[in-house]
Amino acid sequence: MAESMLGMKRSHRCTEVTKDMVDSEVTVMGWVQKRRNLGSLIFADLRDRSGLLQIVFDTEDVGEEGFEKASRLRSEFVIAVTGKVTMREGAVNDALKTGEIEIRANQLRILSESLTPPFPIEENSQTKDELRLKYRYLDLRRPDIQRNLILRSKLTTMVRKFMDNEGFLEIETPVLTKSTPEGARDYLVPSRVHPGNFYALPQSPQLFKQLLMCSGYDRYFQIARCFRDEDLRADRQPEFTQIDMEMSFVDVDDVIDVNERLLAEVFKNAIGVDVSLPIQRMTWQEAMDRYGSDKPDTRFGMELKDVSDIVKGCGFGVFTGALENGGSVRGINAKGQGATPRKKIDAYVNFAKDFGAKWLAYLSVNEDGTYKSTFAKFMTEEELEDLVKAMDGEPGDLLFFAADKNKVVYDVLGNLRLEIARNLNLLDKSKFNFLWVTEFPLLEWSEEQNRYVAMHHPFTMPMEEDLDKLDSNPGEVRAKAYDIVLNGTEIGGGSVRIHMDNVQEKMFEVLGFEKEKAYEQFGFLLNAFKYGVPPHAGLAYGLDRLVMLMAGEDSIREVIAFPKVKDASCLMTDAPNIVDSKQLDELSISVDDK
Ligand code: AMO
Ligand code: AMP
Repeated sequence: MAESMLGMKRSHRCTEVTKDMVDSEVTVMGWVQKRRNLGSLIFADLRDRSGLLQIVFDTEDVGEEGFEKASRLRSEFVIAVTGKVTMREGAVNDALKTGEIEIRANQLRILSESLTPPFPIEENSQTKDELRLKYRYLDLRRPDIQRNLILRSKLTTMVRKFMDNEGFLEIETPVLTKSTPEGARDYLVPSRVHPGNFYALPQSPQLFKQLLMCSGYDRYFQIARCFRDEDLRADRQPEFTQIDMEMSFVDVDDVIDVNERLLAEVFKNAIGVDVSLPIQRMTWQEAMDRYGSDKPDTRFGMELKDVSDIVKGCGFGVFTGALENGGSVRGINAKGQGATPRKKIDAYVNFAKDFGAKWLAYLSVNEDGTYKSTFAKFMTEEELEDLVKAMDGEPGDLLFFAADKNKVVYDVLGNLRLEIARNLNLLDKSKFNFLWVTEFPLLEWSEEQNRYVAMHHPFTMPMEEDLDKLDSNPGEVRAKAYDIVLNGTEIGGGSVRIHMDNVQEKMFEVLGFEKEKAYEQFGFLLNAFKYGVPPHAGLAYGLDRLVMLMAGEDSIREVIAFPKVKDASCLMTDAPNIVDSKQLDELSISVDDK
């Protein structure tokens, strides 16, 4: 039977009770982690979000009735205890913050009983994810998750403080809105009042923050919930949170400057990591050429090398064929991995095929300087020697080559490089390598739509130097767009926006947007721009990803209180679910049973 708390008041959280408080009386409340009966004494570990504290029940202090009550305690019962702080008589527990002390209880109340939990509430639990998420409210009691959510809370507070100091205003933007231009699928919400009409949940506050610049707010930020109906991955959720910002009368360097100081401050204060400023910058082209990725992990080398020039006249048709088709031949050198077993190499070849490689060529340099390779027979001794030299190949090295269209070569080698690094444990979690990737291409050719699409979004400003190429060679126009990358994860991105109507019109033209269509979709923004718009630029971080990396976790699920699983459902609430037909009728919606 549960008891009331009446007349008892919590004086401390568990680990706020310290050695200097010996002999004073405290009242603590929390969950029973574990109870042990030692005949005349009963011990219980009491847990709250601060940690554990040992309670001792002795008939002498707590009385017969209290002792009997203590003997009924089970894991996860919620109790209130008043007692005296004493030095531990038994063994000191160095692993606990409160390991030298205990509370000798003189009053015990059982505030709530608990069923036996489906898994132990403890650090590093081996419980399966499905079970953890079904009972998320229990999972959230585990100290590691609590630490993550506490870190997340601290981080958002620090961000708010920093932004306030820098003159940013926190302004909320609507959640029931119109489709935004971020390129994922929208979540739609039906309107009851306007049958057949739908709101879209925002993929980002992009258009509203640009409007706020039009309205003269100058510096805006928001910790904003965003919704994107896309395939989930370890670093993607259908709803996630951005630290979103926009500034007026600024260019790329101004945005980078504020954000470098923001990152340095929060990494120092939240996890004690020094970010050395300025953060390295690399153009998109350089990132692709050196790492095969627009979000390179720079914690290790194994950079790509373009060997097209070396192999262009060689006898290996796969190499020369790729070059003739306008592609390239590039390689990576897995230093000292020459002895990698055949089976493992085959696994790398298969891995590469997942990223579109038809084949992956490899060559290992034997200790005696000879080569073992799938393609050596197609090349002369001299051609091979030049190739190995170009790759800095030394005895004991393993070289991989991809020959294909550039996009495929980058993708294959960029991912293979990461896979090898994972296998060789080259990814040091204590390192925090930041990188700005700048000068992204403005446009990307979509085979599917047979037209150019915006790589970032249609309001991204082209680099002034490239404006004249918008007509002649749109694919080569670079944008004033930038991403901030941490250890190979894109933690944020943004751009300078187009504030010039002539450039915006040109942009829509290149994207194949008819004027009417553009106005239908974004008319409110385009009209607003007719009333005086300042040059403006901004950026948004994925808050979940930022916290994930700070906490050393591999999935953003570990830093979100109530996340969804791969098929975008919630195992705890069973959302999404079927609704009442009455609800559907009100919304004028009929569901096709197929
Ligand atoms: P972008 O689309 O790059 O830019 O998003 C910004 C950042 O949000 C994070 N992110 C996600 N995190 C978790 N789950 C997802 N599904 C997800 N999608 C994106 C990433 C990403 O870097 N309006 C622009 C910003 C701007 O131009 O100012 C935007 O939304 O960390
Ligand atoms: P094949 O002529 O198909 O037997 O290929 C001979 C060798 O060339 C294979 O073992 C691969 O190592 C290599 N190879 C084939 N196609 C490619 C490709 N597109 N890129 C790199 N290497 C290739």
